Amino acid sequence: MITKTMQNAINKQINAELWSAYLYLSMSMDAEAKTFKGVANWFFVQWLEEQDHARIFQNYMNSSGSKVILLPIDEVESEWKNPLEMFKQTLKHEKEITEMINELVRLAMNEGDFATLSRLQWFVDEQVEEEENANDLVDDFSRAGNDFGTLLELDSKLGEREYSKPEILK
Ligand code: FEO
Repeated sequence: MITKTMQNAINKQINAELWSAYLYLSMSMDAEAKTFKGVANWFFVQWLEEQDHARIFQNYMNSSGSKVILLPIDEVESEWKNPLEMFKQTLKHEKEITEMINELVRLAMNEGDFATLSRLQWFVDEQVEEEENANDLVDDFSRAGNDFGTLLELDSKLGEREYSKPEILK
């Protein structure tokens, strides 16, 4: 059984994951409108992955006999100057999510809640990957600048990204 404090903290994290999903869906829609179809695809996959993150926490709450409370999802922006600005915001946001996960780890440690700590390890590892991916894309789009050919190449590469369900949800 997880404590009420931990349940509340996980409910907030589920909300943050769903907000992340909504943010990336909005970026996908804006990229689509700007005819960056590959970027739109990359963010669409990201929107699916963020819903998986929420689902992993939801499953954990359910299996520990805790009720998930869905909180309101705040509004997200709907327009960015270009893909570089989208990826810069993605990196900044993922760093904030990492800090939220770290905060959950601290809470679980303080509470001696080893089951939650074990589940959180998946998210600690995932956040390393999330930040690395966003960081690489900020670098790629910074280097591309306004070079149309390089931007097209990058867009095409991002169009190849495919969604795959994480093992933990299979
Ligand atoms: Fe759910 Fe992008 O972290």
